[in-house]
Amino acid sequence: MKVLIATEKPFAKEALEAIKKEIVDGGHSVEVLEKYTEKSELLSAVAQANAVIIRSDIVDKEVLDAAKELKIVVRAGAGYDNVDIQSAKEHQVVVENTPGQNANAVAELVFGLLVYAVRNFYNGKSGSELKGKKLGLLAYGNVSRNVSRIAKGFGMDVYAYDAYCTAEQIESDGVKAVSSPSALFEQCDVVSLHIPATPETTKSINYELVNKLPKGGILVNTARKEVINEEELLKLMAERQDIKFITDIKPSADEQFAQFEGRYFSTPKKMGAQTSEANTNAGIAAAKQINAFFNEGCTKYQVNK
Ligand code: 3PG
Repeated sequence: MKVLIATEKPFAKEALEAIKKEIVDGGHSVEVLEKYTEKSELLSAVAQANAVIIRSDIVDKEVLDAAKELKIVVRAGAGYDNVDIQSAKEHQVVVENTPGQNANAVAELVFGLLVYAVRNFYNGKSGSELKGKKLGLLAYGNVSRNVSRIAKGFGMDVYAYDAYCTAEQIESDGVKAVSSPSALFEQCDVVSLHIPATPETTKSINYELVNKLPKGGILVNTARKEVINEEELLKLMAERQDIKFITDIKPSADEQFAQFEGRYFSTPKKMGAQTSEANTNAGIAAAKQINAFFNEGCTKYQVNK
């Protein structure tokens, strides 16, 4: 079978070599399309492919229409909002993700951003410490579990809310479960977002919710920009001089947020999962899943059943 690795944002070199080897060892051939700038490049590359490994690359109806031989798309990562899973189903293409494989990298970046924020973006003025602060995790999946593990090392008090987890599941990790997103924002000094981008979560982080943060509250986003109601957050940050917003996903209104000097920071390009380890873990998992799909008919990680 022909496996295409199509990544606009490439895997680390060593990860790519390991992924290619895994595919070849599974009895398949590999093509690589990296750093492409035009959709047309992806459309011609997918034409012959039986399987595709992607990252945040957009796989929509047009791509699926062009991929006449395609049987499976594996998103090397967690969030698959970049794939039109309904259209894939209509094209009889299996879509999978690789949950948890890049979670530690994203979790570590949360702390990179947080230390930077509480130390006033390293401007030399006296900042504060994470120890003793209350950290709220909105959604309690793989990234949150890693954030919670690291937060305990910092001496933070960890709280979480997840619509799909019971309080018992959350508390069995030594994390305090709260009953709603509002309660999380009300009780925590820092709220870290780990919700996927879905029709329900889009723009759900709004004025009313973020305004519940106590004085000096910090909002951290390493999830998706779509979950933030940017217009309302801009309004709130203009009204409340104490709130900080730090993000790994540049908002559409980046220039407007940048006016809040010392209270806003965005990485130049989403880099939560940009480590050699995360690339290797997620990429090899994707390759193994493709081998298991073609060689054993396994669809364990299918998200469009
Ligand atoms: C994910 O959903 O796995 C992360 O957002 C990482 O995305 P990336 O592979 O585009 O860096």
